[in-house]
Amino acid sequence: MCGIIGMMGNGSVAGSLLDALRRLEYRGYDSAGMATVSEGSISRRRSEGKIVNLANVLSQEPLAGNIGIGHTRWATHGVPSEKNAHPHSNDRLAIVHNGIIENFAVLKRELQDQGFCFESDTDSEVILHLLTASLTRHGEDIPRVCADVLPRLRGMFALVVMFADREDLLLGARHGSPLALGFDSDGGGYFGSDALSLSGLADRIAYLQDGDWALLSRDESSSRLYGGDNDLKELRTEPLTISSGAFGKGNYRHFMEKEILEQPSVWGDVLAARLDPQVRRPRLPRLPLAFRDIRTLHITACGTAYYAGLVAKYWLEALAKISVDVDFASELRYRSPVLRRDDSLAMCISQSGETMDSLEALRLYKRSGLGTVAVVNVEHSSIARESDVVLATHAGVEIGVASTKAFTTQLLTLACFAITAASERGYMSDSDADTAVSALSCLPGLASQCLTNLLGGDENFLHATQVLSHAKDVLYLGRGVSYPIALEGALKIKEISYIHAEGYAAGEMKHGPIALVDDTVPIVALAPYDRWFSKTLSNLHEVSSRGGDVILFSSKRGIAHAKESGIDLRASIELVDCASVLCLEDTYLAGEIGVDKDLGILDVMHPFIYSLAVQVLAHDVAILKGTDVDQPRNLAKSVTVE
Ligand code: F6R
Repeated sequence: MCGIIGMMGNGSVAGSLLDALRRLEYRGYDSAGMATVSEGSISRRRSEGKIVNLANVLSQEPLAGNIGIGHTRWATHGVPSEKNAHPHSNDRLAIVHNGIIENFAVLKRELQDQGFCFESDTDSEVILHLLTASLTRHGEDIPRVCADVLPRLRGMFALVVMFADREDLLLGARHGSPLALGFDSDGGGYFGSDALSLSGLADRIAYLQDGDWALLSRDESSSRLYGGDNDLKELRTEPLTISSGAFGKGNYRHFMEKEILEQPSVWGDVLAARLDPQVRRPRLPRLPLAFRDIRTLHITACGTAYYAGLVAKYWLEALAKISVDVDFASELRYRSPVLRRDDSLAMCISQSGETMDSLEALRLYKRSGLGTVAVVNVEHSSIARESDVVLATHAGVEIGVASTKAFTTQLLTLACFAITAASERGYMSDSDADTAVSALSCLPGLASQCLTNLLGGDENFLHATQVLSHAKDVLYLGRGVSYPIALEGALKIKEISYIHAEGYAAGEMKHGPIALVDDTVPIVALAPYDRWFSKTLSNLHEVSSRGGDVILFSSKRGIAHAKESGIDLRASIELVDCASVLCLEDTYLAGEIGVDKDLGILDVMHPFIYSLAVQVLAHDVAILKGTDVDQPRNLAKSVTVE
């Protein structure tokens, strides 16, 4: 939610500010702006819409100056417009803000009574005027100004402030929303919302903690970091390892396409990092509670990460006999959950590690005394830092707003967690653990095969994308481990194609949603040939006999079985048969295996393959519809507001 950047160097900064904003654009893209100081005065350029519009403005009216700040916005208060775009400035200072100032209305009235005029409808503008009033009272004593103003701001903020008369100084402050600072070896100092924004600029980086504020100079030794109590803190930077190359789109049309297709190699990276090659078992850090002592695992997350948690619930309950509850973080934090610290562990799953609801839910777990595990992609994120143990998902940088490789690497990390839990609790034999690890090791190869088939012009798949691109409503159905993937598939298509879609547990259709079915509502069925297959097939007959157009994703055997049963399929898309790859064809004989049987390794594999299918489906439908795949309307990648 909003990206902010600040920098000072030895040459003009406008070009670097613009590049950094491009790297931050995933955080919001409804307007953007920047301001610089030159010869004691502040100049500003802003525009509604994406960074490309700001770039056009800058090419007409360039900005000079060796110091500057920039912002890319995801609107909270005030419509997306040039007037509401940041920086907000006057002749003394300019500010950029990420977050929400919850008490802005009270502060605004107070400032208006003092004679301040507001130019925008944003909450952020109160910060500009509060700082200006305080500077007038306290002169150049910036620590005093911070002590005066920052405690008055309720809500969340990451701020960067630039002063017209100080070309050697930027002020940054963090309360809730993330902020990092960095330095290069040539006399450049930087603030940015994340490490990616500073990549290619800074060599060394430090992350501000909640309540910190910093006075940034061109070099590390004369910069100062303060805590919330205004006491000086040690400023400890570390090398910035992320390369600006990680940001590139290569020859792909979109980041989402690149990130989908990267999955075979990224899954290989995850397995290389997670599996111990000597013992061929997952390598996990020591948990706050030993696996054998865990009775309940509480998982919290938002959106796609929540669906990863739902898949893990199936795995952990069946394989490791751990009771698992999975909560939307935004709900959990305002409920009164019953949490027992002695035999429970908490887990927070988040790609960015900065999602505000997830972070607050994690804090709730911690206040209840639970040990915490973070499953995160961004290892320096707030959620990672505040958790007892971090399981990094190693997805690499994910830029596309719709999560793809971040989701499947969460699944892979959780699969390793489930296998370890099952072994250590004595529910998985050594030979079954060997099979499980071999199965995981097959996944990168299977992913390549699956993606090649889907992208290779499969007529059924092309037909399915055509059907969906004309639909107003779509239902995604799945049972068992495929149910969360149905939810994820529906979310993906909603996000990037703006088609109304819902995911349902196939068995739930008859309890209400079947009323929606007619020949205008395509049904995407995710039905691997597994223990649930025959049940799902019966549910598909129920919708098909009511005029529903069924698009079936299954393996060769599943499709054959469905056709034999006489169902009318609009399209059938064949996905790789994980059972035949592992020579486990006899494991599931649809209709013969009871649903009460324990989950097997194939149920760990299927969610990966079916996730790829729903990702490519959503992507290709979005292409047909001509929507903005990487930057869908109204969304931003890192949701740091409530
Ligand atoms: C959907 C998507 C979102 C995120 C959610 C949580 O494609 O990306 O639903 O999964 O906003 O974000 P993180 O994982 O960063 O906490």
